[in-house]
Amino acid sequence: MKKLKDFAFIVVLNSVVLFGFHAQENPIDKKVQDLIAKMTLEEKVGQLFQVSGEEVTGPRGEKINITEYIKAGKVGSCLNIYGTKNVMRVQKAAIESSRLKIPLLFGLDVIHGYKTVFPAPIALASSWDPEIVRKAQKIAAKEMSSSGVMWTFTPMLDIARDPRWGRVVESFGEDPYLVSVMGRVSVEAFQGESFDKKDSVMATAKHYVGYGAVQAGREYYTVDISKRTLWEIYMPPFKAAVDTHVASVMPAFTTVNGVPMSANKELVNDVLREKWRFQGITVSDWNAIHELINHGVAENGADAAVQGINAGVDIDMVGGDYMNNLAALVKDNKVPVALVDKAVARILKKKFELGLFDNPYKYCDSEKEKEELLSSANREAAREIARESIVLLKNDNNILPLKMKDIKSVAVVGSLAESKRDIIGPWCGIGSEKDTISVLDAIKDVIPRGTVLNYQKGSEIEDNNESLVNAAVNAASKSDIIIAVLGESSEMSGEAASRSSIEIPEAQKTLLKWLSITGKPIVLVLMNGRPLDLSWEDKHIPAILETWFPGTEGGNAIADILFGKHNPSAKLPITFPKSLGQVPIAYNHLMCGRPATTETVTQKYVSKYLDIDNEPLYPFGYGLTYTAFSYSPIYLDKKEIKIGESLAASVVIKNTGKVDGKEVVQLYIRDMLASVARPIMDLKDFKKVSIKSGDSVKISFTITSDHLKFYNKDMEEIIEPGTFEVYIGTNSRDYQKESFKVVK
Ligand code: NOJ
Repeated sequence: MKKLKDFAFIVVLNSVVLFGFHAQENPIDKKVQDLIAKMTLEEKVGQLFQVSGEEVTGPRGEKINITEYIKAGKVGSCLNIYGTKNVMRVQKAAIESSRLKIPLLFGLDVIHGYKTVFPAPIALASSWDPEIVRKAQKIAAKEMSSSGVMWTFTPMLDIARDPRWGRVVESFGEDPYLVSVMGRVSVEAFQGESFDKKDSVMATAKHYVGYGAVQAGREYYTVDISKRTLWEIYMPPFKAAVDTHVASVMPAFTTVNGVPMSANKELVNDVLREKWRFQGITVSDWNAIHELINHGVAENGADAAVQGINAGVDIDMVGGDYMNNLAALVKDNKVPVALVDKAVARILKKKFELGLFDNPYKYCDSEKEKEELLSSANREAAREIARESIVLLKNDNNILPLKMKDIKSVAVVGSLAESKRDIIGPWCGIGSEKDTISVLDAIKDVIPRGTVLNYQKGSEIEDNNESLVNAAVNAASKSDIIIAVLGESSEMSGEAASRSSIEIPEAQKTLLKWLSITGKPIVLVLMNGRPLDLSWEDKHIPAILETWFPGTEGGNAIADILFGKHNPSAKLPITFPKSLGQVPIAYNHLMCGRPATTETVTQKYVSKYLDIDNEPLYPFGYGLTYTAFSYSPIYLDKKEIKIGESLAASVVIKNTGKVDGKEVVQLYIRDMLASVARPIMDLKDFKKVSIKSGDSVKISFTITSDHLKFYNKDMEEIIEPGTFEVYIGTNSRDYQKESFKVVK
């Protein structure tokens, strides 16, 4: 047994001071302090209050006259107010009528596009292409910033591992590394190089932290999370966002170790601010400070306000507990004014950095707004981005792309085929169905002349009847091929949209079963916001395309793939289980004492189910293409390294198919022996490459200390010498394998 402690290499974690200058050396800090000196206590508290416009994205509390509050200097920021005209009108109240003329911030949930809607985040992550995500977020930033909005409540960095949870759709999936990468590019895309730019807006890393771990996937429910899981799985994307200088962080509605995140001083103040040196604003989730009362940790609004401000939450979104109580609490010496001043300073600093004191209407540009929103370039980008986000799950006998010279008639079935609302998904900014291309529209557009198109709805999303089904079966029987567009409505995913079943809603599944009885080949085009249990479909349907919610140009993107204009290359950022009974089922589970391997699986006392095997239906990282790739064995340039050294791992990948394509090459590592149980593999890097038919490319990864460290029993990040296995492959199940040693 090796004496790990002797040669453990402690990775120095201490953060560096990010902005290496002191307050008094920064001209903005001076301006902030000068302004604070002029403010009354009530005006300070006003900066900490965020109000919502008429549109509500949470339970509505007390209704207030926003304009009157703004004029009295009692509001610091607004959400759900957008559009040049509206923002100008509201900003005007602050600038022309409030005593100190402090400009307001305008925030909105721009989650996957503002007016041009891009694929939902889970789909964006399926591209496994950070540049595609950057492109989408950059356009969203351009559109919103021309329309008065300078603050988005995105990216959502919650790790999503339970398909019942509706917010899987807003996430970048189950893996801390992939989520960190996509989160980082999102922050960079929104914020740009500096806030001087007109199209640089503030991003928000949310929901800090652990929200995705709600038990049984039930929204807003209990979170019980070990320190190890918290730090290894849930925290890294937030650390990555803070390191990318994200402007704001939103604590989650949920608890960690019994403490609601809106009152969690340990994680908000001590970790986020002190350990990680986060310099930006923290904004509560909708009414979350007030909900401390419902959590049973605050007696009343005043108590909730004390706990929120003490924890380090700067802005009270909508709830009003800061507005109603903080000034009195300060006067009664229950909250130090210094705490309020610090929160106010952070908010004012962002307002100065954004240039709002120089020009409060900087983001209001009606000409640019007209030009930018839904421009043809943005639409074209949306189509490209959607194509990159659609995952081909099954394609027996290369049924796709459709060989139209052999097809004389096509049946398109499913209400989602004609739906222009569902295809843009939940949290779709100000996107409108009026601007959307449905699957049916797009198919009509590209189907060759002379080919008969038989469209039948066949079913509503959650309801059907005999005549709908009969009409669809009839249309299907007359056709050479069926394109069934099925899945979830947009409302079945997102916030407050947990499901206890993860199957295609029964009404549509019944329809699909009837269609399959016709014996006609079926292409199942799925729209949904979470992994579904597709076990039946996988057995009976020859081709399955996971399109998630692909956005404004989703119909065209789907048609591009169906008809072979585009070769799909996306991969799953989250595991698809064989049944809900397997959940939770992330790919990087720990090694266990009685694993079920090929040799042991028939034995009784091993880790398995009696009625189903342990394997997922579609593993993390999985996705097909119209071509094929072969992988050479892995070549390591060194078989042994010292702690602190790096090595290169390479493979040669050949496109052995007939068409050009893209492959997502994935690098996983496993620590074979450590002082605590380690995952069977962890994603450490990936590269998306284009390879022409018949060509080969060499792909190399550099494996560094960063890829080998983990938290030991004392939660120190260390590297322990020993053997590491390296896997490079096309998904987390199919790969080449090698190993190397780390010595002291
Ligand atoms: C509640 C959601 O949890 C959060 O993500 C969103 O930003 C706010 N509502 C504002 O709409």
